[in-house]
Amino acid sequence: MVPIPGMNILLGVSGGIAAYKAADLVRRLRERGCAVRVVMTAAATAFVSPLTFQALSGHPVRTGLLDPAAEAGMDHIELARWADRVLLAPATADLIARLAAGLADDLLTTLVLATAAPLYLAPAMNQQMWRHPATQENLERLRRRGVQVLGPGVGSQACGEQGPGRMLEPAELVTTLLAADRSATKAAAGPLAGVRAMVTAGPTREPLDPVRYLGNRSSGRMGYAVAEALAGLGAAVTLISGPTALPTPTGVLRVDVETAREMHSAVLERIAGVSLFVAAAAVADYRPADPVPQKIKKVEAELVVRLVRNPDILAEVAAQPSPPFTVGFAAETDQVEDHALTKLRTKRLHMIAANRVGGAVGGFERNDNALTVLWPDGRRELPMMPKTQLARELALLIAERYVASS
Ligand code: CTP
Repeated sequence: MVPIPGMNILLGVSGGIAAYKAADLVRRLRERGCAVRVVMTAAATAFVSPLTFQALSGHPVRTGLLDPAAEAGMDHIELARWADRVLLAPATADLIARLAAGLADDLLTTLVLATAAPLYLAPAMNQQMWRHPATQENLERLRRRGVQVLGPGVGSQACGEQGPGRMLEPAELVTTLLAADRSATKAAAGPLAGVRAMVTAGPTREPLDPVRYLGNRSSGRMGYAVAEALAGLGAAVTLISGPTALPTPTGVLRVDVETAREMHSAVLERIAGVSLFVAAAAVADYRPADPVPQKIKKVEAELVVRLVRNPDILAEVAAQPSPPFTVGFAAETDQVEDHALTKLRTKRLHMIAANRVGGAVGGFERNDNALTVLWPDGRRELPMMPKTQLARELALLIAERYVASS
């Protein structure tokens, strides 16, 4: 692997048995041409001596925030500025929780708040602790802030159990860190570098009563894949998502909503400054007019639900005084192209991606899909392929048309 000369890595070591592996990590990072400075939490020093890291990194190791002697040298703010990358390895469940809460109760967490450098975490913990919803929720919060989570590996653990939670091996961590870094550099140079994009995805849920809703069969996969692909081309992407079971794509800021009206407000509150808007959500066109506050009991032989129209989010965004480049989706069971062209014109869109739903091919809840993409003076067929690949092709086409129109 090509070293990245002069890259400054701040390595944060927290208190887990995998701390001993971090010593090898320092050696390997230095072999790749990186300068490494090490900060340890108090608990980490119970596993490995700071002297080990000092010898391997060639620099004194910092352990405390309130250390006048150390602060007289490179103080914590200077250290935070010095770092090009911050790697926390091992990152314990406790460290992850403190980071998610935004605490700054020791030197390491203070540095994380004080640095503008990208942050990478290599979790290491018992498999039950890894699987605990508290840990998973904390990681999700951190991912949403753009933190990259490397691993963990799966296998036998120091505590004698089997499962996920092992810190990745140092060689693997270095490869992943430098590969993640290269893809970030590539994205920064991509055709959408510096462009703010927004993507809506997933279904909406329209409540009938506190326990029931009207929904649809959208999995959100296509929208999520488009958000990820646009981020891969360099765009700063906000994903406004209905309820899905999908993880947040790397480097994407996600805002969760449930109903069409919530999605409408979430989009309009954030649309200023957005240059590219992709509406991939399957927004409910109607909602129950009078959702009831108590659970509906089965006392009547028949029940009539009156529905009222929801706002059309895409049409409203496209009708703004200076609208972003707008891309819609059209899911049709018949006369796919005719209906899509009508939507392109009536909603005044820059582009529409149409697909056939129902029947034996493509559409909701499937891994593969095909699209006919139309714009006012052109079209392109994207044939049946896995949704992630299709999303990349579509993102490239959107980037091409967006660049041509601006
Ligand atoms: N859309 C939206 N807000 C809505 C409804 C739809 O933003 N309230 C967006 C979808 O995300 C998609 C496109 O508009 O990009 C779909 O257009 P729409 O006219 O709603 O399609 P259908 O629901 O298929 O319309 P119809 O039932 O009239 O065919």
